[in-house]
Amino acid sequence: MGSKFPVAQWEQQPTPFYYYDLKLLGDTLDTVMHEAGKYGYHVHYAMKANANDGLLSEMQQRGLGIDCVSGNEVRKAIELGFDSSKVVYAGVGKADWEINLALDAGIFAFNVESIPELEVINELAGKKGKKASVALRINPNVNANTHHYITTGLEENKFGINLWDVEKVVNTIAGLSNIQLEGLHFHIGSQITDLEPFKGLCIKVNELQDWFEERHIALKVINVGGGLGIDYHEPDMHPMPNFKAYFEVFHQNLQLRPGQEVHFELGRSLVAQCGSLITRVLYVKEGVNTKFAIVDAGMNDLIRPALYQAYHKIQNLTSNGEIGKYDVVGPVCESSDCFGKAVDMPYTKRGDIIALRSAGAYGEIMASRYNLREFAKSVYSE
Ligand code: LLP
Repeated sequence: MGSKFPVAQWEQQPTPFYYYDLKLLGDTLDTVMHEAGKYGYHVHYAMKANANDGLLSEMQQRGLGIDCVSGNEVRKAIELGFDSSKVVYAGVGKADWEINLALDAGIFAFNVESIPELEVINELAGKKGKKASVALRINPNVNANTHHYITTGLEENKFGINLWDVEKVVNTIAGLSNIQLEGLHFHIGSQITDLEPFKGLCIKVNELQDWFEERHIALKVINVGGGLGIDYHEPDMHPMPNFKAYFEVFHQNLQLRPGQEVHFELGRSLVAQCGSLITRVLYVKEGVNTKFAIVDAGMNDLIRPALYQAYHKIQNLTSNGEIGKYDVVGPVCESSDCFGKAVDMPYTKRGDIIALRSAGAYGEIMASRYNLREFAKSVYSE
């Protein structure tokens, strides 16, 4: 039974909805800021994980920076009061209007992924009489051992500049008068629960730092991206990852130059555990081999199970009957609209309230209106 959920208050509440535990979010953010603060590290929240206003305002109040991947994200960050000097803008395909918007906003840096992109930023900045600050997104070829859809740091990925191209890129920058090279940017993947790949990343960063030093190129910022994973299986036992151990890996392995800043772009680890998708059982249907609990949330509300075979813990919050096995499925016309197969749940019936846990990251923000379904609303803890 999910006693931590205010189920009694939800009798009249239409489902499905995203429920956000702001207390847990606050504790998570305070822990991150404390642990990062020990080493003077800067934390940017990766807005792509969840751009819900209530969550963003908690970040903004605590002075986190923000990592954006579109012009609209940059605009939203500025509108919500994030300090433009703490906004970074990454993305492999930045459109001209997005670059212009970010230049006008005076963001801290563009994380740049290719020479053609550098040339366009140089030209657009020149037209405005500005110098654009950039960090080069380097593909460090570190295997993050995560799901292949969310690995990003390998040579065959579309992201970043490959190591053998760095020299060419640096030579190009020398001829671009409206570009200011501020630092390097990396991101090796997402949902990384073993800290070893981050150590591998540090080693690559150190090698690159030596290369830049030999050429007398000063780098102000080393941005190591995000990717720290969470425990989807035991969200109550591990409501937040071990941030202390995570930051320690960088502290112990990164060889920094005097005055260098280290930036992080954490998404999932900040917001995943505070969010649950709350849904009601519409029908329980006997199948040939199984019982289907058909709920009123669908893959359009939470696409991770369908898209990545991702696991989200499923809990019946209102029943304490005898345990049985249920396939928990949504109403969308796709066989992949399934949140879990053979899930152990107490005796489940129409009207029961079900929580799909750890849905605060890449849940609401990846929702669609497929089948013309409405977007799920959000509800916050008191
Ligand atoms: N920085 C960059 C450059 C990124 O590409 C990402 C995530 C992050 C930071 C934040 O990573 P995080 O700390 O959240 O792992 N939709 C997928 C995850 C896609 C991650 C994309 N990049 C999912 O639902 O698992």
